Amino acid sequence: VELVSAGIVGASGMLGGELLRVLSVHPVLRSECIVAGARAGESIVAVHPHLRDVLHGSFERHDASAIAERCRVAFVALPAEEAATTVPALLDAGVEVVFDLSPAYRLKDAELHDRWYPDARRDPDLAAAAVYGLPELNRKAIAEARLVAMPGCSATAALLALGVLTKLDVPLDAVVIDAKSGSSGSGGALRTSALHSLRGGGVAPYAMTSHRHVPEIRQACGEFGLHPAGAEVRLGMSVFSVDLVRGLSAAVYVLSDGAPRSEDVRRGLHRRYRAEPFIRVQPAQGTTTPLPDPKAVIGSNFCDIGGGVDADGGRIVVVAALDNVAKGGATQAVQACNAWLGIAETTGLLSTPIWP
Ligand SMILES: NC(=O)c1ccc[n+]([C@@H]2O[C@H](COP(=O)([O-])OP(=O)(O)OC[C@H]3O[C@@H](n4cnc5c(N)ncnc54)[C@H](OP(=O)(O)O)[C@@H]3O)[C@@H](O)[C@H]2O)c1
Repeated sequence: VELVSAGIVGASGMLGGELLRVLSVHPVLRSECIVAGARAGESIVAVHPHLRDVLHGSFERHDASAIAERCRVAFVALPAEEAATTVPALLDAGVEVVFDLSPAYRLKDAELHDRWYPDARRDPDLAAAAVYGLPELNRKAIAEARLVAMPGCSATAALLALGVLTKLDVPLDAVVIDAKSGSSGSGGALRTSALHSLRGGGVAPYAMTSHRHVPEIRQACGEFGLHPAGAEVRLGMSVFSVDLVRGLSAAVYVLSDGAPRSEDVRRGLHRRYRAEPFIRVQPAQGTTTPLPDPKAVIGSNFCDIGGGVDADGGRIVVVAALDNVAKGGATQAVQACNAWLGIAETTGLLSTPIWP
């Protein structure tokens, strides 16, 4: 097999550390340029102790042309403000494809982008050309892209749950997403609200009436036909910080007058995802297979999904659970890169989650 060299920009962050871990066992991709910001020059294992004896040396300083010289592909795991300018610099320097894990190039609508990410001043032509990086919805386009804008973690879970709607012919009234997110979801920067003493044991609504992933979810619902064509669907999300390190659970409530039966939802999920190696659909409630819980997917690229119908409440309920650092971030970017390389999407990604 011909090895493909990758640059990891933002390698000292949460997603950067996970990218380094996954690439250390990937048979085709290898981490060639391991780049940090303020922590450039520091030892890699001092920041990522889990990589001891796996990787050696120090983080490099960012240099787009050095990366382009040594790497075909680049993963950018920076804050949106930095990614907005780093991504075009890497492409201009000659990197063949960039997987941007930040939100800088996700939204097509410039006004919406400026409203949610006012400090991320991006290249408008690249924003128009960027391809949304959810492989289960968009793998063909990913395979031909130069810039792949990877989805947010709660957007990934919500959109995979909403995928069932393509298999159910129901009129939609409204979609309500209720997400619970672990602390690694907000990255490695020090903040008072992230202190263990303040966050541990709590369930804090941190984005109660909206969230920056909502416009991205709406955009993808339209682009990938997750609700009936042309339908103006009301859709909103609330997100809570819960006492997990990794893990994200999104409960999606679809309010509909024409609620189908639980069996239809279950069958719809099976039909939608039966060929997807990373989506594990739960059988009917009451079987011995447990319903989706992030605890059962930690450290893996799996997303577990289960659903049913609350006939009295007029709700279709679908729950998706994933590891925000993995399927919600780093391993999903590797899955997209596998698709781009034209190798099996599962390459290097089939490790079993940890338990308990
Ligand atoms: N955490 C998640 O679950 C998750 C999931 C999906 C997407 N994302 C997105 O992915 C991106 C990275 O997230 P993260 O959680 O890994 O964040 P993080 O832990 O805060 O890491 C940020 C990285 O960016 C680098 N950086 C920050 N400012 C920089 C600058 N001015 N110049 C160069 N490098 C700079 C940091 O390097 P130094 O520390 O060395 O300065 C660090 O390596 C974000 O855009 C986030 O929204 C995160």
